[in-house]
Amino acid sequence: MSSVMIELDKVTKIYGQGDKRVVALADVSLEIKKGEIFGIIGLSGAGKSTLIRCINKLEEPQSGTIRLAGQEITKLKGKELRAARRKIGMIFQHFNLLSSRTVYRNIAFPLEISGVKPKERDEKVRSLIELVGLSDKINSYPSELSGGQKQRVGIARALANNPEVLLCDEATSALDPDTTKSILRLLQDVNRRFGLTIVLITHQMEVIKEICDTVAVIDDGRIVEQGSVVELFAHPRSAAARRFMKGVLHTEIPSEIQERMVDDDRQDQHGKTVRISFIGGVAGKPIISSVIRKFHVNVNILYANLDFIKNTPFGSIIVEVTGDEANVETALKYLTAQGLKLEVLAGVGPDS
Ligand SMILES: Nc1ncnc2c1ncn2[C@@H]1O[C@H](COP(=O)(O)OP(=O)(O)O)[C@@H](O)[C@H]1O
Ligand SMILES: [Mg+2]
Repeated sequence: MSSVMIELDKVTKIYGQGDKRVVALADVSLEIKKGEIFGIIGLSGAGKSTLIRCINKLEEPQSGTIRLAGQEITKLKGKELRAARRKIGMIFQHFNLLSSRTVYRNIAFPLEISGVKPKERDEKVRSLIELVGLSDKINSYPSELSGGQKQRVGIARALANNPEVLLCDEATSALDPDTTKSILRLLQDVNRRFGLTIVLITHQMEVIKEICDTVAVIDDGRIVEQGSVVELFAHPRSAAARRFMKGVLHTEIPSEIQERMVDDDRQDQHGKTVRISFIGGVAGKPIISSVIRKFHVNVNILYANLDFIKNTPFGSIIVEVTGDEANVETALKYLTAQGLKLEVLAGVGPDS
């Protein structure tokens, strides 16, 4: 059939009753494709954990349906439910390791439960330990590990029963930025290696930007926006998405530059200060130099930043374009025609 792995259709989850009633999920519909890394971003209390707990049926929604690999898990019970759950691995913010068990025995645990024979189990545990890069910690206890190492154990344990889906609930939220990156690399690696579908829940846009293909923004129990990550960065539509983006896009203009723009009142020349934002392919093209050549204007770069969403470059530069009025205007039109987003921050000269 289709390549849809997880499908939520109008899922509503309400906790409590009367004046204690909380609508944790309101009419949530999502489609997560097989093999993709799907991010769900939202503030604390937005309903993220509830969503994940509905997917593995730790919570029952009041209405709506959830399908996993075509199977309606909202209807499953007993043996069928256990079999469906085995398709799902999960990792947590606080790792949830067994403190009295070594790395080896933490990873062996789910295999013991599912009755895998000792020899096969031993081979599996050893290959998982190698996969997550913890061969030198095989007999260590959780208390002897760093946060990043603990999460590596968590990932190995989650992969023990060869799941098709990995659910990650704030899996990097307790880690420092460098460790976060290394754990995200590992998740990307297992995604590619095993074609594993990953659902990654977070309140950090950095995490989404780093490895997700698709993203849904959840706000107060509702999905307010969903689509490709690149598309979200290029055209965020919801207020919630814009709020999350602020921290990673560096859209604030540095104060030194703002002062310059105000002070800049040379009357002899026409000039405009513009912010040029770009996403994707144009980053590699010599657009600025061709503008200078084509339109005989001066371009003075005041500020620039470049970043990547997975492998797609995005960023913005603030430039002062000065010269003959008609030339400046044509140059700006040309830049827009190249697919760049232009925003005039200040202008000097006869018409401003
Ligand atoms: N077991 C529960 N009983 C009552 N309310 C709950 C329960 N679990 C979560 N909630 C409420 O549901 C909302 C969503 O919670 P949650 O899914 O944990 O959000 P997030 O993971 O995005 O922080 C919150 O208002 C929370 O207080
Ligand atoms: Mg949560």
